Amino acid sequence: MRAELNLRPLAIALAVAMALAAATVIVVAVSLPAYAAEATPPVLVPVSERTWMDTSLGADRRAELALKAMTQQEKLSWVKGWFGSDFGDKKRNPAALPFSAGYIPGTPRLGLPALFETDAGLGVATQATKTPRERTSLPSGLATTATWDRKVAYNGGAMIGTEARASGFNVMLAGGVNLLREPRNGRNFEYAGEDPLLAATMVAQQVKGIQSNHVIATMKHFAVNDQETGRFILDSRIGDADNRMSDLLAFQLVLEQSDPGSVMCAYNRLNGAYACESDYLLNQVLKKDWGYKGYVMSDWGAVHSTVAAANNGLDQESAWEFDKSAYFGAALEEAVANGHVPQARLDNMVFRILRAMFDKGVVDHPVAEGGAIDFAAHGVVSRTDAEESMVLLKNTGGLLPLKAGAKKIVVIGAHADVGVLAGGGSSLVYPVGGSAVTGIGPATWPGPVVFHPSSPLKAIQARAPGASVVYHDGVDAAAAARAAADADVVLVFAQQWVGESVDAVSLSLPDNQDALIAAVAKANPKTVVVLETGGPVLMPWLGQSAAVLQAWYAGTSGGEAIARVLFGEVNPSGRLPATFPVSASQLPRPVLDGDPKDESKRFDVNYHEGAAVGYKWFDLKGLKPLFPFGHGLSYTQFAYSGLAASQKDGKLQLRFKVTNTGALKGKDVPQLYVAPQGVKWEAPKRLAGWDKVELAPGETKEVSVSVDPRLLAMFDSRSKTWRIAKGGYKVLLAHDAADTGAASITVQLPQRVLDVAGKAGK
Ligand code: BGC
Repeated sequence: MRAELNLRPLAIALAVAMALAAATVIVVAVSLPAYAAEATPPVLVPVSERTWMDTSLGADRRAELALKAMTQQEKLSWVKGWFGSDFGDKKRNPAALPFSAGYIPGTPRLGLPALFETDAGLGVATQATKTPRERTSLPSGLATTATWDRKVAYNGGAMIGTEARASGFNVMLAGGVNLLREPRNGRNFEYAGEDPLLAATMVAQQVKGIQSNHVIATMKHFAVNDQETGRFILDSRIGDADNRMSDLLAFQLVLEQSDPGSVMCAYNRLNGAYACESDYLLNQVLKKDWGYKGYVMSDWGAVHSTVAAANNGLDQESAWEFDKSAYFGAALEEAVANGHVPQARLDNMVFRILRAMFDKGVVDHPVAEGGAIDFAAHGVVSRTDAEESMVLLKNTGGLLPLKAGAKKIVVIGAHADVGVLAGGGSSLVYPVGGSAVTGIGPATWPGPVVFHPSSPLKAIQARAPGASVVYHDGVDAAAAARAAADADVVLVFAQQWVGESVDAVSLSLPDNQDALIAAVAKANPKTVVVLETGGPVLMPWLGQSAAVLQAWYAGTSGGEAIARVLFGEVNPSGRLPATFPVSASQLPRPVLDGDPKDESKRFDVNYHEGAAVGYKWFDLKGLKPLFPFGHGLSYTQFAYSGLAASQKDGKLQLRFKVTNTGALKGKDVPQLYVAPQGVKWEAPKRLAGWDKVELAPGETKEVSVSVDPRLLAMFDSRSKTWRIAKGGYKVLLAHDAADTGAASITVQLPQRVLDVAGKAGK
């Protein structure tokens, strides 16, 4: 059993311990007496008397009634969670699902089920390396965002929520929406890119899909946890207005659009305070300004105090074993008893948890382990997501789609003979049948490096029956180039593995893959590069390769999806959800802050770019990226016309027409950007809306988009209002954020002031 221990706890515990040692944290009450016995032992409440089970009542009332029936000990049990595995010398709570992320005991006396928690955004993960659950994995979150397709995101969420339920889980720790400020961030693949509107819209759809299964989803990591290096000790520095218009806006929009039952506060500090004890973040912004009614759970090992955390808005300590002390155990009981934490606060903590359980259907639709999973159908959901996510970055001379009649196709590198790469860490979904490649990368968490056993090579071979399709592992670049020289077409696969807790050391492809691609492309100009990366990478060989397909981490059916796009069974329609820089020198922080080898020294990450994230930064500084945000080619072409604007109930409405001017059916993502004329924003323009439309050759469709007024406003911290300045605003209808030929009109907007929630106010 010992050998089966997940090494992740150790990795995290070590880092947390080092961080704590460095952080001079005051540890509250490490050895307090065990819970005092209840004065009157609680009795089972007969089913007929469980008024909170009346489904005709609202979630608020039901939570209120259930709370009233609880003893103090029962209340306390709801705010202290357990990890789903042994942790050092702490044994797993036997009631937790083995190797799961977390467990919160229920109150059976009152008919209230326990909470069983699983990671995360790509599917049902397992916190173990030897005996994992094998489940369906979606492509990375960044890939799903690259579909720009709301329905695809919803379907993916609904699918993984079904698997969570069938696996006995009623809480999914999915809903990651940290903005891509740092292209090297090791968790970018779990998130949704650099633009708050795009990221929030896509994550909200996923959350809705998950919650359609009566499973609570978890928006995370709140907030500004935008790099992994030093995540336990770093202090994210950013002003309130800048934050409200960037990272916080993404969270705010997810809440409004999907109402996740829980929110996970992050590891890092924000402007000095730990996120899980930040009155500003939890009480002021989340609960007061945004009116959030769900509960706040901590990230695993992110709690640093009892009184401050409880009073500043944390509702549940997720895995007490990860924290320096069981802060929400006996210490909290004592703090309530002596008045440092008001009883009303404890009641509110529990109320919020119960309310989410009633509201999302967790109580009325109890979960059980061992449900049937339709892996074939779920594989198609994942494949569709992957296909829609792939971004054709370059396609010189129409090399793609691959034509019938090729005699020799050479496939090189990235284990493309057997599978597609997955990102590492808590979100890893172990593949059905096991990893296609074993024994590489970090042996311990956030490893292992896993490949989903969906072979691009086999899928390519199946589509080229008359051709010789051969594989070369690419380890020896010169040999690979020789093998490629006489091929009709060469497909070089390149990979970049990243994972939770580790940022990419640089934006360059690792392991000499740049040299491999350059050598192969030199030997054969008909070279297509397929990228399996966590996020943006540099491409020094771009000028030499004929075509580049960004395939991200493509999930359970990735190999099949890649082949279908390469052969034109699917017309690529993904668009970049993040800017690809030419070099790291173009970034706000050319060098990543912190030292990945030394997690003991606290440091600040100064987000001096404020709300000018991604393409906004590039616009502001007049920088030309390698590939702009929103970029993506198709095997057909699209033209835009008839851009017009109107204003209804104070809302800007835009409409226009898209025509497929090429010869193939395809999908386009027309994008609307707004650029103020006389007014200064954080950057020259912002994404204001988009749609994804499918068009037959020659077909035209009309699209209309309504613009969230906050995207036309600046946030004013003093008055806590969104302010639209009177003046002219240029609306651009564009193929991407750098589209110089974009159609445009200028609209005149009156001055408007909106309240903190973006509603028409004064
Ligand atoms: C991660 C969370 C995850 C949790 C539970 C943490 O290390 O940051 O995203 O949900 O672990 O596994």
